[in-house]
Amino acid sequence: MITTNPILNELGGNPLAGMQDLANELRAEGTSLHDFAIGDPDEPTPPFIRRALVDDLGPVSRYPTVLGRPQLREAVADWFAHRHGVHLDPATQVLPTAGSKEAVCHLPLAVLDASGDRRHVLWGDPGYPVYGRGAVLAGGVSDPVVLDHEGGWLLTLADLDAERLERACIAWVNYPHNPTGATADLGWYREQLAVAREYDILLASDECYQEVWFDEPAPSVLEACDGDFTGVLAVVSLSKRSGMTGYRSGAMAGDAELMQRLRFLRTTVGTASQDFVQAAAVAAWQDQEHVDERRAVFDAKRRVVLPFLDEAGLQVSGSQATFYVWFRAPGGDDAAYAKALLDERIIVSPGGAFGPGGRGWCRLALVPTVEGCRAAVRRWGEAIAAGRLPR
Ligand SMILES: Cc1ncc(COP(=O)(O)O)c(C=O)c1O
Repeated sequence: MITTNPILNELGGNPLAGMQDLANELRAEGTSLHDFAIGDPDEPTPPFIRRALVDDLGPVSRYPTVLGRPQLREAVADWFAHRHGVHLDPATQVLPTAGSKEAVCHLPLAVLDASGDRRHVLWGDPGYPVYGRGAVLAGGVSDPVVLDHEGGWLLTLADLDAERLERACIAWVNYPHNPTGATADLGWYREQLAVAREYDILLASDECYQEVWFDEPAPSVLEACDGDFTGVLAVVSLSKRSGMTGYRSGAMAGDAELMQRLRFLRTTVGTASQDFVQAAAVAAWQDQEHVDERRAVFDAKRRVVLPFLDEAGLQVSGSQATFYVWFRAPGGDDAAYAKALLDERIIVSPGGAFGPGGRGWCRLALVPTVEGCRAAVRRWGEAIAAGRLPR
């Protein structure tokens, strides 16, 4: 019998799979659902981005390079300059990615010494599980730090004891945050950077929700660097910003030496963004108007959902940015409340699916249209009024 990698068993399955299976069964029976589960909104990719891809699709398609087109790295660097006031060298401090997920997952392979004594990767729980999984795949240790409502769902490195910090090689932060929608300010980034540098930890910031803000623009970790990006990496994506989840396009920016190692790793793995996707990506990074329009659409959905939760007496936490809304499950059992909502044909994610730190909370992804959100909250309100759902 062939062998298989036992680490794959350690990773566990998709924690949201159970709910999705139930939902799929209902769909197969012809039941229509209000689906707030997966972070992949219904809004179309802007036509000019689609057009840029199609126009670039020639008869011959060659291997793309890991460095990608210079225009793409320049477009990313220009975006960082306009949006964050950060000046990057597109030749050495920017690398395109095939979405941010693979970049997050692959990073430890370039950083983590599996035979050394600094094999831990810190990340916030609840959180995106790929930070921990990438660590384990690279022979390291996933070291989730439990976040909470009282702490604003912020990961504060200074709160960890020195031994824990000394074991870590990477600290992932992710603001605006999935699943809570919490945000971090520039002062917080500066504090994390100081601790990370003191302990020689790579501060890696997953900024894929950077453009989905409502009160004030979310800062980037790179703003906290004052021009010295040593030991710092930001990962950005067009998935949420431009409605391009299917294109798989993002970028990494920061420490030039790390970028060289990543370039070598990624050439070895063969992870490069497809050439025609790069053409669409250049168009997307160069345009801000469609981003503002998308933000307005998410804002309209929030203006349907947030007042409803408030009137229904459901406690909202975080939820300042992203298209997620995070609320406390009445009765304290997130899985039970998500199941009860599914009985009402409304699908949400139980917070425990994002790690033990998410237990007792639920996440709504504002995926349906504004009208779909209205219909869902009507139904939800009726179920509460009829006593089928607890307050
Ligand atoms: C926190 C976080 N990071 C990264 C990703 C991956 O996004 P993509 O690979 O589409 O850029 C997601 C996707 O939902 C996410 O929630």
